[in-house]
Amino acid sequence: GKYRVISTKAMPGTRWIRLLTDQDCRVEICTSKKTILSVEDIQALIGEKCDGVIGQLTEDWGEALFSALARAGGKAFSNMAVGYNNVDVNAANKYGVAVGNTPGVLTETTAELAASLSLAASRRIVEADEFMRAGLYDGWLPHLFVGNLLKGQTVGVIGAGRIGSAYARMMIEGFKMNLIYYDLYQATRLEKFVTAYGEFLKANGEQPVTWKRAGSMEEVLREGDVISLHPILDKTTYHLINKDRLSIMKKEAILINCSRGPVVDEVALVEHLKENPMFRVGLDVFEDEPYMKPGLADMKNAIVVPHIASASKWTREGMATLAALNVLGKIKGYPFWSNPNNVEPFLNENSPPPA
Ligand code: GLV
Ligand code: GLV
Repeated sequence: GKYRVISTKAMPGTRWIRLLTDQDCRVEICTSKKTILSVEDIQALIGEKCDGVIGQLTEDWGEALFSALARAGGKAFSNMAVGYNNVDVNAANKYGVAVGNTPGVLTETTAELAASLSLAASRRIVEADEFMRAGLYDGWLPHLFVGNLLKGQTVGVIGAGRIGSAYARMMIEGFKMNLIYYDLYQATRLEKFVTAYGEFLKANGEQPVTWKRAGSMEEVLREGDVISLHPILDKTTYHLINKDRLSIMKKEAILINCSRGPVVDEVALVEHLKENPMFRVGLDVFEDEPYMKPGLADMKNAIVVPHIASASKWTREGMATLAALNVLGKIKGYPFWSNPNNVEPFLNENSPPPA
């Protein structure tokens, strides 16, 4: 291969490797046993000559790495993630390195995890499972693990982009929930969907679902029964959910976070969970991954999973493929690499699964 492309991690599937090796690239996959590579580890990987890198959301892609990549003749970097808060896009621009991310292929998978956590929290599935395994079940009782009925309740979505909208649609169509959402942009397609579904229900003699675009985030927090967070992480969304905002939520609300940990003030959340035993939370992401803030792991009203929202086989192979195409596209001058500032994914929800 004429071009040297590095992947900082082994990634699912083989299609992404074939794509690169079929097109003049030599692929080097980092074999380090460390889960998270440091800037120094990656600088050593880049070495003297490197044309492109596929990296991970756990890595700090800033000034130091983009200057090292540019010095090695590198032109392209792709995050194997849709979120790119770990990437300093200005630094990349400064060194002439194109940046890609992997939108589209993870939309439905991530929304499905948010829906899974919503159901698990509302029906207390994790607590009930622990109870069974502990041998505590000694017979059916009318009050055993009573949870919430979602039907007719309100799902609140903060950030109604690709993932937030897909999640909203699942909760509305699957469980006949009403919608309230907050976003800087109007979610036109989502609004049309809820309207049409409401009409369908009405025509069948059922209570129609309703929707509302909130004028403020506080409105969603006050009215939502299940509230899911889907913003990007940047300065404006850091600690978006803090002590004050938790305090205006319903005492029995459910909060789901499959976006980025720092969107929630996790210390304030632990306090809130302690003071409000009927409040429940489903978390896929944490402020200081891989750690949890003290006390969180002891809370029965919290469900915690290790950042697995995009972890379906189809999606992870799709992310690897898209990341490889991003890097390849830039190296070879193809028009289909996906840049977070001008995202036009090559793969999308309608693409066939990777072979
Ligand atoms: C995962 O967290 C992603 O941003 O793709
Ligand atoms: C519960 O198991 C019921 O039959 O109502």
